Amino acid sequence: MGYLNSYKKGKFITLEGIEGAGKTTQLAVVRRCLEEQGIAVLTTREPGGSPVGERIRTMLLDPGCKGMVAATEVLLLFAARAEHLAHKIRPALEQGTWVLCDRFTDATYAYQGGGRGVDPERIAMLEAYVQGSMRPDLTLLFDLPVASGLARVGKRSAPDRFESEAEGFFEGVRTRYLAIARSHPQRVRLIDAGLPVEQVSAQVRKQVAGFLARVGR
Ligand code: TMP
Repeated sequence: MGYLNSYKKGKFITLEGIEGAGKTTQLAVVRRCLEEQGIAVLTTREPGGSPVGERIRTMLLDPGCKGMVAATEVLLLFAARAEHLAHKIRPALEQGTWVLCDRFTDATYAYQGGGRGVDPERIAMLEAYVQGSMRPDLTLLFDLPVASGLARVGKRSAPDRFESEAEGFFEGVRTRYLAIARSHPQRVRLIDAGLPVEQVSAQVRKQVAGFLARVGR
């Protein structure tokens, strides 16, 4: 299998967090930090990021798909991920382009595992099947209290299928994200997303600078 991390020349960076954590705004900050160093960057997102993946995303977020069982949700997420990896992420990394992805598999452990109660061992089986040994090199976890995040999202447009979940669901998601950060302290860096935006950006720049130094860039 050509799935080993040794095949990739670029680095794979993911951004994670509950709704309203400001990931999308900070993605631009990460991108700028990398481009300032002359690094070619591809930004993308999950679920989605490929033609088939974006169609799956529409289904996953559609409030009309209310009642979808957790197993279907997990399988659709990994189906979209398989497309994304094959058509976008792996080809970019193999060329030496760095990939910056708004959410990845940590979101499945957090939302479907922590939020919906899916056994993490089942998620791990699909992770091994779809990704082989492919894992992000760096993950920035934007953490803030659930109530603050939901208050920010509430100001946006009509809620999608996930945004319609109750606060308890997001408490489960946040708790699982924090557990992931504790068990992978080298890869996952915690960002306090409850602070004013300039202070969040400053933490992001610091983490990216530290990562660049670690990988010798
Ligand atoms: P967003 O990326 O625009 O915030 O929306 C994607 C939604 O999909 C978000 O509510 C989190 C959810 N999601 C999962 O539940 N599991 C996953 O593995 C991923 C990638 C996203």
